[in-house]
Amino acid sequence: MNLTSVTCLLLTLIPVYTAQVMSLPFSPAKTVPRQHKNLGKRLEPHRHFRERFQRPMQPLSKSYRRPIRDFRVKATTAKDIKLENYYNNLYYAPITIGTPGQKFNVAFDIENPITWVPSIHSPSRQDRRISKKYNNESSSSFTANGKAFELSYPSGKVSGYFSQDNIAIAGATIHNQTFGEAILEPDMFSVSMNDGIFGLGFSDIAAGEEPTVLDNMVNKGILPAPVFSFYLNTYESHGPDSVLTLGGTNPEYYTGDFTFVQLSMPDRWQFEIDRIQMSRGVGTTCWYGCQAVVDPGSPFIAGPSYFVQVLNERIGAKPLEGNPKFYSVDHSQLDSLPDLELYVNGQKLTMTGKDYIVKFPEEQGGPYYSGLVGKDFKRDETAVWSLGTNFMRTYYTYFDKGNRRMGFAKTFSSLYRY
Ligand SMILES: *[C@@H]1O[C@H](CO)[C@@H](O)[C@H](O)[C@H]1NC(C)=O
Ligand SMILES: *[C@@H]1O[C@H](CO)[C@@H](O)[C@H](O)[C@H]1NC(C)=O
Repeated sequence: MNLTSVTCLLLTLIPVYTAQVMSLPFSPAKTVPRQHKNLGKRLEPHRHFRERFQRPMQPLSKSYRRPIRDFRVKATTAKDIKLENYYNNLYYAPITIGTPGQKFNVAFDIENPITWVPSIHSPSRQDRRISKKYNNESSSSFTANGKAFELSYPSGKVSGYFSQDNIAIAGATIHNQTFGEAILEPDMFSVSMNDGIFGLGFSDIAAGEEPTVLDNMVNKGILPAPVFSFYLNTYESHGPDSVLTLGGTNPEYYTGDFTFVQLSMPDRWQFEIDRIQMSRGVGTTCWYGCQAVVDPGSPFIAGPSYFVQVLNERIGAKPLEGNPKFYSVDHSQLDSLPDLELYVNGQKLTMTGKDYIVKFPEEQGGPYYSGLVGKDFKRDETAVWSLGTNFMRTYYTYFDKGNRRMGFAKTFSSLYRY
């Protein structure tokens, strides 16, 4: 797809597009579903997500119980991977699988541990598919595994079987890595920018799950520690390229100290926010603390509809007609918007109006969207806020598996704004 047709697609379908973005917590696709009537329903976390969240606390798995040394000490051996930024919505990077290497673009899933790409043996929609498929027959390093996998995304299920092969990322090769060959995928995947997914979630090794790519890179001494960090840039900002750093942090991309927070679940990148408010004392939500995750696959911060409504009212944002979970902001307000303040582990993380507002770059003069969108949760379900790329562009985000914590530091990219 060339840039002009992408632009046309965005221009004509922006309201639908935003709805679709929200519907995919891990954003494997860029296009627009024909129907989005049941938006509220599709915004609910998928079953796997809910089950994991509601699982009682478990002791840390043995392999990571021992604290890892300070990541800064060995940060020089970390590996940087340049990411492509697709309209601030989807960030992806190339990997190769097999010998000789077959190239795939992968987006990042913080929730699930499985890395997968489409399989040549998939019967689905060969004709419409623009992404690539892994061919085991043309790789000399392929080893069969055959165990089934299935992942639930709101847009549908991805299923297939595991295989083993060499995966190369950022100049490093991980031999005999177990990954998923997807046989069935939701329609959306067939036209997305990314071919597959790179899983950065926790793998339950004790329960027989396979080590992730990151786990194996650490186990095989390719990385100094089971940590990774995202620097996400702003589309058309002329700032440095987006970078995922495996095995450490890269101080070129952030400034000041990290605010660290312990994970609130042992096997999930989830943490507590003490409270969320607009500056100047207007509109405070989650007084007694709330749970949150970050999501490199959505441009928005999503929270319980009622709280989001309160915050949006305070900044003068108006619900979209026909899709009241999304709010528009008038261009003239941009410079006078209050700051959004997230208190994490007693520290204040501040986002200016220009940080949290969402604008689709190809559009001239707006509309601008409030970066806060509503999400429905079931009554028996704990509401989990999801901090999307507007947050991650403002805060460099560090994930520390060994110490079960996350860290946030101001990015340099907050200097580059619309
Ligand atoms: C490749 O995968 C197919 C389907 O799983 C299998 O039938 C075939 O034997 C595999 N090829 C090799 C060389 O193992
Ligand atoms: C990968 O697995 C195959 C089959 O189990 C084995 O023969 C080979 O030695 C392994 N390669 C490495 C580098 O571990």
